[in-house]
Amino acid sequence: MYDNWEELENSIQNCKLCKLCTTRTNIVFGTGNKNADLMFIGEGPGADEDLQGKPFVGKAGKLMDMAFMGLQINRDEVYIANIVKCRPPANRNPEDDEAEACLNYLRNQVILVKPKIIVLLGSVALKNILGKEYGITSSRGKWVERKNILYMPTWHPAALLRDENKKIEFWKDLKQVKQKLEEIKEV
Ligand code: URA
Ligand code: SF4
Repeated sequence: MYDNWEELENSIQNCKLCKLCTTRTNIVFGTGNKNADLMFIGEGPGADEDLQGKPFVGKAGKLMDMAFMGLQINRDEVYIANIVKCRPPANRNPEDDEAEACLNYLRNQVILVKPKIIVLLGSVALKNILGKEYGITSSRGKWVERKNILYMPTWHPAALLRDENKKIEFWKDLKQVKQKLEEIKEV
């Protein structure tokens, strides 16, 4: 673990800890406010993210932008990262060995950002952060507290494109997040 961003960011350059290194264009480390109270964790880069080296800049990113706008949250206020930093081929889910190889980078990011709230976007983020026993359908919308961090699991934005109901639930979950964030800021 590194106690500063520079060493952490240097450590991931040319990473070859898993097989995703062979197919990536760019490593997508993470972006945003490095002292954010609120952090979002997705699954892994898609095609647009792989090309640009930034998380959530494609179709799912547009949905995130709409959510941020609705919540009156500026994208630069929050920190955004993924479980794996390199794109899984054809956007398949990251495999267990890939997530395991990559997770120490994310753990280090969380330690440095020190967020109060983490939104887990979808099943891959949920299972890799809180544990395999968690299912997204039953866990979403419910706070889980661990080591002074509040976790809110919700749908991955890509899932919203396929299901209108999930849009409503996603929005409900993020409203809870916004409300909690304001409570935290008041104390
Ligand atoms: N989906 C994700 O999970 N992460 C991204 O960065 C983009 C799409
Ligand atoms: Fe390294 Fe993570 Fe990329 Fe695998 S996904 S090569 S562990 S940065």
